[in-house]
Amino acid sequence: MQHVVQVVKEKYHDNNLEFQVFFNDHVTNDFNTLFRSLPVDRSYYASGVPGSFHGRLFPSRSIHFAHCSCAIHWLSKIPKELLDKNSPAWNKGLIHYAGASNVEIVNAYVVQFEKDMEMFFNARAEEIVQGGMMVLVSPFSGWDSLNFFGSSLMDLVNEVSNCVVISSISFEL
Ligand SMILES: C[S@@+](CC[C@H](N)C(=O)[O-])C[C@H]1O[C@@H](n2cnc3c(N)ncnc32)[C@H](O)[C@@H]1O
Repeated sequence: MQHVVQVVKEKYHDNNLEFQVFFNDHVTNDFNTLFRSLPVDRSYYASGVPGSFHGRLFPSRSIHFAHCSCAIHWLSKIPKELLDKNSPAWNKGLIHYAGASNVEIVNAYVVQFEKDMEMFFNARAEEIVQGGMMVLVSPFSGWDSLNFFGSSLMDLVNEVSNCVVISSISFEL
């Protein structure tokens, strides 16, 4: 956040700009540890915002810059067919699909990821101001999720006026 603040100040040639940063995580997160870890000489006001980023977190058109690092790959829930021993997608108690040759298992994860990303983008689309910016950094495991993510970004470009995808960073786990 310090880097973001510095870059925006330089862009507008205004060292007196003031910034409020909202740190979001699940309600179970230890926000006190987060706040204690922030540098004392930071040049922004810090707040914690509890709740899932798959839903609304902020008022409409209130956020100028949204950043999400290494978090959107977490699913909102376990697809129920993975837990069902009678389902072709039963995942035998595993919590991932790494190395899964069963296409039903992979599809169950991809379908959930699609739903989650749609909720994520819909919520941010309401919250971010016109002309705002979003930077996402995420690990992707497998081409299915990467391809889906790419097509989600293209949907955004097509549906939202003045939306430009500058780059997407990805790497394989
Ligand atoms: C790997 S950590 C990344 C933390 C930090 N963003 C970073 O880059 O160092 C992933 C974080 O995302 C949070 N997270 C996962 N799913 C979330 C959700 N639906 N809503 C809000 N936070 C979530 C986790 O609780 C965890 O703190």
